[in-house]
Parts: sequence; C-alpha cells; structure tokens
Amino acid sequence: MAIERLVEPTASDDKEEERIEISLRPTTFAEYIGQEHLKNNLRLAIDAVKKRSDGSTLDHILLYGPPGLGKTTMAGVIAHELGASLRVTSGPAIERAGDLASILTNLKDGDVLFIDEIHRLRRVVEEVLYSAMEDYKLDIVIGKGPAARSVRLDLPRFTVIGATTRTGSLAGPLRDRFGIIHRLEYYKEPEIEQIITRTAGILKTKIQPDATKLLATRSRLTPRIANRIFKRVRDYADVNGDGIVDSKIATKALDLMEIDYLGLDPADRNMLKLMYDNYGDRPVGLTTIAALTGDETTTIEDFYEPYLLQLGLIARTPKGRVITEKGKKHLQKSGNKL
Ligand code: ADE
Repeated sequence: MAIERLVEPTASDDKEEERIEISLRPTTFAEYIGQEHLKNNLRLAIDAVKKRSDGSTLDHILLYGPPGLGKTTMAGVIAHELGASLRVTSGPAIERAGDLASILTNLKDGDVLFIDEIHRLRRVVEEVLYSAMEDYKLDIVIGKGPAARSVRLDLPRFTVIGATTRTGSLAGPLRDRFGIIHRLEYYKEPEIEQIITRTAGILKTKIQPDATKLLATRSRLTPRIANRIFKRVRDYADVNGDGIVDSKIATKALDLMEIDYLGLDPADRNMLKLMYDNYGDRPVGLTTIAALTGDETTTIEDFYEPYLLQLGLIARTPKGRVITEKGKKHLQKSGNKL
C-alpha cells in the first residue's frame, strides 16, 4: 500500500482545508510572493492588452511545473489583474466534446478559462479546444447519420490558462496554441518564509522568526506544503502550548509528522530505501519503483521525483533512476545501515 502523505502537494479533498487554502490565496501580483520572472512577463502582457483597448485578448497561457507551486493561484491573479471573470475546470472533468462546448458557449468576452491538468484532456475534447483557441469558433456536429450536419458557432474572445505538471504529455497542436508558456520554479527559502509569515498573519497566529525559518527548510520549497505544515504546527501549539509557534514547538510538531531536515517524509525515505535495498547503485525503471512502493507511476513522477531530483538525492539516467551518493548519505543519516 502507498503511504498517506502530509507533504502530498495535491490540493486537499478536505472541505475545511480547501476553504482555508482558498482564503490564503493572494489575488494580486503585489501579494503573490516569488515567481518574479513569470510575474514580470505576465504584467507586461496584461498591461499591453489593457493599453490596446481594441478588444484584443490576452494570449493563451500554459503554466507547467511540479504541483503545489501556485498555478491555480496564479490563474486567479491573472484574471483579477485583467479585471476578468475566471472559470475553473480540469482535464478529467471535461468528459465529452459536448461538455466543453457548453463551457465555451457560456463564456463572455474577455473571460479566463482555467483548465487544470490539461494534459489529461481526452483527444476528442482536445481537438475541439484547439480550434476554439485558434479562431474562437466552435465546430459541432448536430444529429446523427445522413441527417448530421456541421455548424460553426462564434465564441466570445477568451483566454485559456492551462496548467500541467508535464508539458511532455501535451499534444503538439494544443501546445502550439499557447502564446505564453512558462514554468513555475521551486521557491527560494526566504520566499517560503515570507509566505509562512503572511499565512500566520491571515490566520492570526504568532510565530517566531526562528520557527518560520525552520518550517521553511522543511516545506520542500512549495507554498502549499508550507501552508499545510504551518496549520499542523499551529494545531500543535494550540493543544500543547499557548498557541504561539516557537522553534521548540515547531521541532516537536515536525518530529511528530516525521518530516526530516530536508522536508522528506516517511514515503520519500521508504522509496529511497526500496531503491537502494533492491537495486543498490544500479538504475531502476519507473514502473519497478512504482511496484515497489505501491504507488501509480504518475504519482512517483509528479510528486516524489521532482523534489528528490531537485535535491540531488536521485538522478535520472537513460536506463532509469539511480540513488546518488547524497541520497545514500541521507538514508544513513536517517538511521539506515547501508
Ligand atoms: N500562498 C500560496 N502561495 C503563495 C504565494 N506565491 N504568494 C503568497 N501567498 C501564497
């Protein structure tokens, strides 16, 4: 069985947690911490559209990168800065071409349509989407058999913001419809500290600077994880202290969550250990790793790997993934005999 993870950077299914997460989202570029390069590019594109005032719309935007780095949040900021309405959907939610047709025909001029996990759109839906993105027309077939006829509907001028963890699995023609393609980067530690400080302020919790620093080092450079860990630590401080988060409380709470000094949780360490125990220094294929940990291959690729690669604990080779010297050292430090 795969291990349940607190540091899973996917959005939570928990309604209360989702409500808090939404309340923490910045709505303007000024509030949005980090991703400076992306913000500068987007600011320019938005200012240009606003200045033109000839009915032109913002280019379609593709945001990619590991989960939890703020793609949905950024889509909200873009819509807000444009003064546009945001419609949110996702690749798996649009099952048929008809579902997409209904979304598109309900848009208004200038609206922003956010499609999360756009790489999971079905091929038939994808084809309708890219012609709609290209010339704001919707080709639909009405009726069946000999009576079937094709009609072409005019659509409002809209902007698609697509989000994906992997650009590689996006069909070429769809990818080509995006004028702006940008990767979200892992945050820098001081940025994560700022995000934690901001969150603590919104949630009216006192946190000391050394505790903020400590939490930032354990958050995998990912805002969603920083906020999630912060909330757990806040609970711990409320139950076991006077509600103020200091480094002592933070350390104890992190120990309870089994999150180590690199931000790895038991599932990460388990994967590293399984790789080492079964393959040593030899490369191991993705499907084998997935079989060993009991996860889907996509879970390994999207959630475990990016951060472990970023830290240099594993490496990708043409023959598969290998655990690096640094990875082995980390296992030893975590109490494993190699
Ligand atoms: N909360 C989550 N991500 C954030 C970001 N990038 N800036 C500010 N607050 C955030």
